[in-house]
Amino acid sequence: MSRLVPVGLVALSAVPLTAGTLRLVQLAGGPDLMPADDRFSGFPVALVAHIVGAAVYALVGVLQFVPRFRRRHMTWHRRAGRVLAAAGLLVAGSALWLTLFYPPQPGTGNLLFVFRLVVGTSMVAALVLGVRAARSRDITSHRAWMIRAYALGLGAGTQVFTEGLGGAAFGTGEVAGDLAKAAGWAINLAVAEWVIRRPTLRPSGVLA
Ligand code: HEM
Repeated sequence: MSRLVPVGLVALSAVPLTAGTLRLVQLAGGPDLMPADDRFSGFPVALVAHIVGAAVYALVGVLQFVPRFRRRHMTWHRRAGRVLAAAGLLVAGSALWLTLFYPPQPGTGNLLFVFRLVVGTSMVAALVLGVRAARSRDITSHRAWMIRAYALGLGAGTQVFTEGLGGAAFGTGEVAGDLAKAAGWAINLAVAEWVIRRPTLRPSGVLA
C-alpha cells in the first residue's frame, strides 16, 4: 500500500507536468508540441515560475508522503520540506498572478476566476499554517495543513479526469467546464480530509 501512494501521486501529476514541459520547450523557442498560446508569448514569467514551481512541488512532495522514508530520513524530510514550502508558495503565488494579470483562458468564466482566487489563497494559507505548526512542533496540525496544501496543488492532475468525464456528461460549456475544474479541487480536498482523519498505524502496530 505505501508504495502505491507515491506511484499514484506521480501518476496524478504526470499529465499537467508533461503539458508544462511541452509549454516550456515551446516558450524557449523549441517546436510547437502543443497549440501556441499568444497570451503567454510576450511576458511568460508567471507561467514559467508556475510550471517550474509545480514540477518541484509535485515531485519533491511525493517522498514526504511515504511514512517509512520520512521516519528513516528526518533530515531529508526537513530540508525537502523547506524546498517544498517555497515551491508551493511559488505555485500558488504564480497561479494568483496568472489569474489576476493575464487574459483569461478562452472558454473559461467568472466561476473559475473566483475558484482560482479561493484555491490559490487557501493554498498559501495552508502552507503558512503547515510551516508554523512544524516550527512549534505541532506535528498533527503540520501533517494536516501540508496534506491540504498538497491536495489543492494536485487539483491540476485530478482536473484531467473531472474535465474529461464532465465534458462527456455535461458538455463543454463555460459553466460546465468551470465546475469540472472546481470538482478536481473538491475531490482532492475530500480525499485529504479523509486521509487526515483516518486512524493510522504507528510503527509499533498500535492504532493512533
Ligand atoms: C502542482 C500543481 C500544478 C500543476 C502541475 C499545474 C500545471 C499547470 C500548467 C502546465 C499550466 C500551463 C497551461 C498552459 O500552458 O496552457 C498551468 C496554468 C495555470 N494554472 Fe496551474 N498547475 C498546478 C497548480 C495550480 C493551482 C493550485 C492553481 C490555482 C490556484 C493553478 C492555476 C493556474 C492558472 C490560473 C493557469 C493559467 C491558465 C491559463 O490561463 O491558461 N495551477 N498550470
